[in-house]
Amino acid sequence: MGIDTAKMIGDFPILNTTRNGKRLVYLDSAATSQKPIQVIEKVSDYYKGYNANIHRGVYEISIKATEEYIRSKELAAKFINAESYRNIVYTRNTTESINLIALSWAGRKLRGGDGVLLTEMEHHSNIVPWQMLKERKNTVLDYIALDAKKQLLDMEDFEMKLEAKPKIVSVTAASNVLGTINDVEKICRMAHDAGALVVVDGAQSVPHMPVDVKRMDCDFMAFSSHKMLGPAGIGVLYGKEELLEEMEPLLGGGDMIRSVSFESCTYNELPWKFESGTSNIEGGIGFGAAIEYLDNVGMQNVNGHEKELASYALRKLKDAGATVYGPSAEQIEHRIGVISFKVPGAHPHDVAQIFDSEGIAIRAGHHCAMPLVNQVLNEDSVSRMSFYIYNKKEDVDVAVDALAKVKKVLKLH
Ligand SMILES: Cc1ncc(COP(=O)(O)O)c(C=O)c1O
Repeated sequence: MGIDTAKMIGDFPILNTTRNGKRLVYLDSAATSQKPIQVIEKVSDYYKGYNANIHRGVYEISIKATEEYIRSKELAAKFINAESYRNIVYTRNTTESINLIALSWAGRKLRGGDGVLLTEMEHHSNIVPWQMLKERKNTVLDYIALDAKKQLLDMEDFEMKLEAKPKIVSVTAASNVLGTINDVEKICRMAHDAGALVVVDGAQSVPHMPVDVKRMDCDFMAFSSHKMLGPAGIGVLYGKEELLEEMEPLLGGGDMIRSVSFESCTYNELPWKFESGTSNIEGGIGFGAAIEYLDNVGMQNVNGHEKELASYALRKLKDAGATVYGPSAEQIEHRIGVISFKVPGAHPHDVAQIFDSEGIAIRAGHHCAMPLVNQVLNEDSVSRMSFYIYNKKEDVDVAVDALAKVKKVLKLH
């Protein structure tokens, strides 16, 4: 492994705490990641040393805050190989980024009957905004099917559904339930050939693997700081410059304008025209520190580490008799470190609660992907463990040992 987990854990104060006298084993990074001291200190340094509004002051601490905020956008741009920070719009999170596209771009460009194509493995944040658009504009919504056997996207179904000439294809790069990685580069190529724009939900890919928007050639991409070691309340909407130039802002007010008269206004340059009012300054600055941290670890190393943990966990869970969803260990190249599972005879919430009594944090439920969980997997809920750079094989061992306790407590033997 290219990651020294023992050293890494030292950077995460919360991972050095205990629960019920037991070491906290955090296996819910797909929901939100833990924060290293470098991020915590960056935010605290801002409050302690240069707290001021950005873009406005001519005094030293405001200039410093503005520089740090812009620097974080430069880091974000470089992290995904975007042309410049002009392509990086800060929002609250992935959800807000996708809503911005659905409301502004699609809301203005799409007409009744125009198609939006999603996949069956989307998070609610890449379904509901498009359902709301459908209500308003009478657009047509369709979903690319999941190949149930391989637990991968059915690319033949995609090809077939492109024949309807959708205007927008909006897909997740990696599923937060199945762990499945979608070939977004190929999806962009095929969608563009059919005349569609592509929106990529990068919430589970950008934190876990190298992502290159130029190579992928997506038109828009959304992701969240809080899932990649940064503060909550800050997200990214990446867009190709010509599209962002063409797109109307959603919210009007301070900061997003160049000039205002009693009669009208002109908008600010990119990316500021989409950021009205006072920004989440500390969130942006802290996000910059998170990106620097990940850059130092190296995204290839992050990806390799998580794949190794996922392979190990998949085998152990199977040996322990759990039902596991998503691509198998033999298809690990198609997987991120997210594993949904069920213990036959046990309710996923009971499993999560028993894990909690052992100091292990996992998630149970529909994971904000009810259509996938209820209508494709035919389950009410599933348990999920997810890994990040600070997890180690020992965490998997502790979790698998907890499965024995689940069986004992629930008398499943
Ligand atoms: C695939 C995917 N998309 C979107 C989201 C929404 O992210 P946020 O809550 O940060 O907007 C999540 C969160 O779990 C996710 O896993």
